[in-house]
Amino acid sequence: MTKISPLLVDQLDLPTTFSVIGENATVTNVIDLAKCEHCCTSPRALEALKLIDPRHLFEHWDAQDRVLRTKLAELHDVPVAQVFLVSGGMGGIRYAFEILTRPGSRVGLLKPDFPFWWDAQRAQTQVTWLESSAYPFAQNAEQITRFVAREQIPFTIFSNPHAGTGVKKSIDAVEELLRRAPNTFFVIDEADAMEAESAASLTMRHENLLIIRSFSKFYGLAGLRIGYMVVPLSLVEHFRCFIDPLEVTSIGIILATAVLDDLDFHRQTQALVRSNLSIIEQACAGTHYRIVPGSSCFACYLSADENVADPCAALAERRVKLSASSFFGLSSGGRINLCNPPELIRAAAEIIRTIAPR
Ligand SMILES: Cc1ncc(COP(=O)(O)O)c(C=O)c1O
Repeated sequence: MTKISPLLVDQLDLPTTFSVIGENATVTNVIDLAKCEHCCTSPRALEALKLIDPRHLFEHWDAQDRVLRTKLAELHDVPVAQVFLVSGGMGGIRYAFEILTRPGSRVGLLKPDFPFWWDAQRAQTQVTWLESSAYPFAQNAEQITRFVAREQIPFTIFSNPHAGTGVKKSIDAVEELLRRAPNTFFVIDEADAMEAESAASLTMRHENLLIIRSFSKFYGLAGLRIGYMVVPLSLVEHFRCFIDPLEVTSIGIILATAVLDDLDFHRQTQALVRSNLSIIEQACAGTHYRIVPGSSCFACYLSADENVADPCAALAERRVKLSASSFFGLSSGGRINLCNPPELIRAAAEIIRTIAPR
């Protein structure tokens, strides 16, 4: 009999703990622009929280709530059967690996991107990378198509909008990929999306696509661990039977349902992020710093001209904290969270303006 050989993977660190509550970033201490969550909560979600019944807490509830799934199906114009609730984008990623790969499967990942290598390690798959280390750090549909054909990749996953740069591939570009690489399965993680527009409805025409979305970012519910997947019809049974029947919490379901209707909160978030992006872009003009163009969510990526010191390190010395390049697989620059109070973004912008003038 062979003894068990326990799996040990590299650790993925997320250092935020409850101890930071009440210690929000201010312009006088560290200006923390490193995280990528919302900076506030939907008033409608908070109202819904007040109406929680004790039964919501002490009973086990069917995680695949019909009301919430129906709302999501309507939002994306897909049949409700194709929508599954999961414990955030992370839950969706895990199920995608568990159901669609086997130990040793060839998995194609992009670099830079969200650290999907961690799930690939946990699923014991074999990773091949398509790298783009030069500004603006993006791979287009044609490069991805050639990569999956050349490397014989049956399964790939990438974020869209990009978790580091915030840049979004159009739905047409996604469809081009699906058409040109019909033997590759594409998992597209839209956790960072800030609008209903999604490639989700393409799952009705293409069997090689699965979409992951989250209530953590745009909807401001990261602490509740709720997200969803839209899968093609041919995979409905696979996911329906496999997903933990107790996958998400009752409070997550209730608040997610409420926040979907909070259109004022959606509009305010979009306006805040747009305005903060413009403040940072203006600050970079006339300096050796630049923002990867096309950010469409909380994430935007600050990078520097060649031969200029790493902006992430230079800003850290001046108390401005960005999400480090290494998290996404790059060697310099950093991601800025645009969903922060404007006064913090303005304070960071003033510092950016002075560090590397032309
Ligand atoms: C692309 C991407 N996927 C997944 C996640 C994790 O999100 P969730 O809280 O929904 O698990 C994030 C958040 O950082 C992300 O940017």
